Amino acid sequence: MPRYEDTDKDKVRDAVDLVDLISTRTELRRSGPGEYKGLCPFHDERTPSFHVTPDKGMYYCFGCGAGGDAFRFVQETEGLDFVGALESLAQRYGIELTVADEDPAAAERRRARERLMELLDRAASFYERFLWESAEAEPARAYLRDRGFTEETLRTFRVGYAPSAWDKLFMASRRQGYGARELFDAGLGLRSKGEGRLYDRFRRRITFPLCDQRGRVLGFGARALGKDQQPKYLNSPDGDIFHKGDIVYGSHLARSAATKADEVIATEGYMDVLALHQAGIENAVCIMGTSLTERQVGELAKLGKTVLLALDADSAGQEAMMKASRVAAKSKLNLRVVPMPDGLDPADVVQQEGADAAREMVGRSVPFVRFQVERELDRADLSHAEGKDAAIAALRPVFATLPPSALRQELLAHVAGQVGLDEALVSSWLPVAGERAAAPAPPRGGGPGGGGQNGGRRNGGGGGFGGGGGGGFRDDERFGSSSAVLTPRVSPLAQAEGDFLAQCIATPDVAAEVLAGLDLDSFSSDAMRRVLVHVRDHLRAPQDGLPEDDAMLSRSVAKLVTKAADLAPSRAALQGQLANIEVLRLTGQIAEALASGTGGVAALRQRRDQLATRRDALIAQAIDEQASAS
Ligand code: GTP
Ligand code: MN
Repeated sequence: MPRYEDTDKDKVRDAVDLVDLISTRTELRRSGPGEYKGLCPFHDERTPSFHVTPDKGMYYCFGCGAGGDAFRFVQETEGLDFVGALESLAQRYGIELTVADEDPAAAERRRARERLMELLDRAASFYERFLWESAEAEPARAYLRDRGFTEETLRTFRVGYAPSAWDKLFMASRRQGYGARELFDAGLGLRSKGEGRLYDRFRRRITFPLCDQRGRVLGFGARALGKDQQPKYLNSPDGDIFHKGDIVYGSHLARSAATKADEVIATEGYMDVLALHQAGIENAVCIMGTSLTERQVGELAKLGKTVLLALDADSAGQEAMMKASRVAAKSKLNLRVVPMPDGLDPADVVQQEGADAAREMVGRSVPFVRFQVERELDRADLSHAEGKDAAIAALRPVFATLPPSALRQELLAHVAGQVGLDEALVSSWLPVAGERAAAPAPPRGGGPGGGGQNGGRRNGGGGGFGGGGGGGFRDDERFGSSSAVLTPRVSPLAQAEGDFLAQCIATPDVAAEVLAGLDLDSFSSDAMRRVLVHVRDHLRAPQDGLPEDDAMLSRSVAKLVTKAADLAPSRAALQGQLANIEVLRLTGQIAEALASGTGGVAALRQRRDQLATRRDALIAQAIDEQASAS
């Protein structure tokens, strides 16, 4: 990744119209002077809690805690890193970026790469045009029509047609100034064995551009039209630009729906993605066959915490699911399996049974462990005792991933019913996740041994403070019980510290002197201290100087800036907030003193009550001032 001049970041930020940028993802309405509001693009909600403060260039959602500046917004909605977001915004707002100190060789490589990317994009357009305009492509158009695809869907995915002549693309790109070598390097040309002449790689095929997360064409997958053509799908070869193992097909088109649902549907084929998309299921992507790589799982994880595997019910599909589970076990993915009718793929379901049926099918997804249990039971011969023992042996590693839970209980009952044995007995033969003591194996067990696979669902879900409102702890009292809303729990003290800092931003003159004299250690946590230092050092423009890689700080500052936008400057309010922090801290000390019996409670209480009186007076004063001002 090239590094750009530091000043470029400011140039781009100044050029961005945040309201315009965010309006591509959600409808915004003016909600006050210099403030806009809308439904949060990062979680599902019915009443808007997503705020945009264009003057400060920041957004914040009070529902899920997503927040930051334009760069953060693009990073999170488009799955890019900071440099990617910078490039994307620069392109969008017409800012030329300056690469900082690049050596000539690196500059040359970058230019060459840019040319290949341009060539690939032109090739995609060339195939597209050929599909829609040439007489030769009529069979391809007919085929796609028969499969039920609309022109709109095909154009969205830039589906095209590669003509059957040997050198159509070659000639066209020559005319546009690209050399034979470039065509070869882009994976579009092949060299003949004899005299080494170059000809088109893709011929008489329907072409699917394979893109990165930003929708830039990196290569192609191309489907045969005739029965005589082998292979059925021909891909670009791996090279400098295209790496098959990195591609999650359709991710740039699925991102917005997937992010919102925090859920992505992984299918096997291009056609499945198109069909689901057309059926209104837009969070669908494909892994291009069944050989799933770790990098693809990483890309899936960026799209949503839950991955629904909608792979063929055949054995290759089942193997792919097992592989997915092994790879996913290392990340925090929640894997589910969409039950597929025998012999049908999602595209078939959409075409034969319709969009509603496809939606229902996706809605019947089951946790991955349930799929594993079903699979082992299906494979087993349960007509005799040995077959039952073998099935239970095979289920040991599956149950070893399951902690005590309702799901475990349900699966246990199911297994017991299928093998026709007492549930308690079957349970005593199966290990429990998190329990050391191995359960005795049933006679003649000898399965692969517990704990081998670690796939499937981790009970309990959300882990740690993660990306925009993903993990964290529930606070149902404060935020209602909508299950989509996950917000880090904020202690009353941290809340008070935040309120104080928001008032500081709204009252910078007074705050400068108050913050300068404030003892850093008086804040409750490292995180809040970091926020305090940032606000102190950037009082008038807290949106400045945020480190690119500190999402937590960006979120916190965005929250403060958003709150501050609704606050009037007030010395009394600021000092009242400060007194409030002190009151809460003393309340904590009193609780500790009571618990440990160290005494001194009376003195602490007296001090606390004095401060509370002062706080209340200051707040009352602030309210009076505001009433008389308006
Ligand atoms: P249709 O048969 O047109 O419905 O396509 P499909 O998408 O259902 O294809 P299929 O189920 O046969 O394969 C699923 C995916 O695997 C395809 O979309 C391709 O990405 C990949 N694939 C299938 N066949 C081949 C092949 O011969 N070579 C390569 N490289 N990939 C293939
Ligand atoms: Mn198919």
